[in-house]
Amino acid sequence: MHCPERYIKDNGIQQKEAKDALTAYIEKMAWTSNEIVLDIGCGPGDVTSDILYPFLKNKIKQLVGVDKSVEMVEYAKKNFGRSQIDFKALDIENAKDCSSFYSCRFNKIFSFFCFHWIHNKVNSLFNMHLMLKSGGEILINFLLVNPLVELYKCMDEEWQKYIKDIKHMSQDSYPRDQLRGMFIEAGFRVINVESRVKKYTYPNFSSLLNAVRAVDDMYSTLPQHLHDRYSIHVKDKIIERQMVEICPITGKTVMKYLPITLHAVKD
Ligand SMILES: C[S@@+](CC[C@H](N)C(=O)[O-])C[C@H]1O[C@@H](n2cnc3c(N)ncnc32)[C@H](O)[C@@H]1O
Repeated sequence: MHCPERYIKDNGIQQKEAKDALTAYIEKMAWTSNEIVLDIGCGPGDVTSDILYPFLKNKIKQLVGVDKSVEMVEYAKKNFGRSQIDFKALDIENAKDCSSFYSCRFNKIFSFFCFHWIHNKVNSLFNMHLMLKSGGEILINFLLVNPLVELYKCMDEEWQKYIKDIKHMSQDSYPRDQLRGMFIEAGFRVINVESRVKKYTYPNFSSLLNAVRAVDDMYSTLPQHLHDRYSIHVKDKIIERQMVEICPITGKTVMKYLPITLHAVKD
């Protein structure tokens, strides 16, 4: 996920999920004045600026978006940075950076569509706990099942050798109770956990393929001359595995997905 221009073109599902989670939870959180808020895995910054910020603007002093991708952070700064919103590079799995720069710094932490990409989830949760002030709250929304990891697993042998990073992910899906346990282990008191299967409709199959491509890091490891053949393989696998339903008349493409929203507090 290093190409913000590509990502921002087809992130309708991410925008919708962030809006849904914020609408449901923002008034359930306890607010004081002049809060400092963190958005982890902010990507190109549009969700931070155009979705999260409008929910917060009367409550906060500062909103900081962080992402491990320098390209994403640079794009976010240039396009969405302003006096109340700043963007910084930070890998949430890096305990040293989290504690040196941000220990007990934030009143709230938000994170949208990022946690399913995080390798060491327990350590990251410890880092998030450390960065929150006492009494601070976290609202995190992500996919219980990462569809790209599912896709990688069923790819033909010839592509398997290129799948590197993602293989270090221990699991491609997590039972709700295991996740709740991880939050508790990291020191949080879990207030609410919510997940249910949802559907998202893309205007056509190509937009879905573009959205998949925007988050597929295979293109950064794969030699350029294999890109087109790989794209065809991805398309064939999505159809073969019936990962979407395509309307034969309109071409509208429906994908089922399983998001989870977790609200917790640091006592
Ligand atoms: C799917 S994008 C979500 C972007 C944005 N929150 C949204 O809802 O559109 C996931 C982002 O998480 C970032 N990310 C993945 N692992 C991370 C980590 N360990 N620390 C910080 N950011 C990470 C990626 O670089 C990517 O920009």
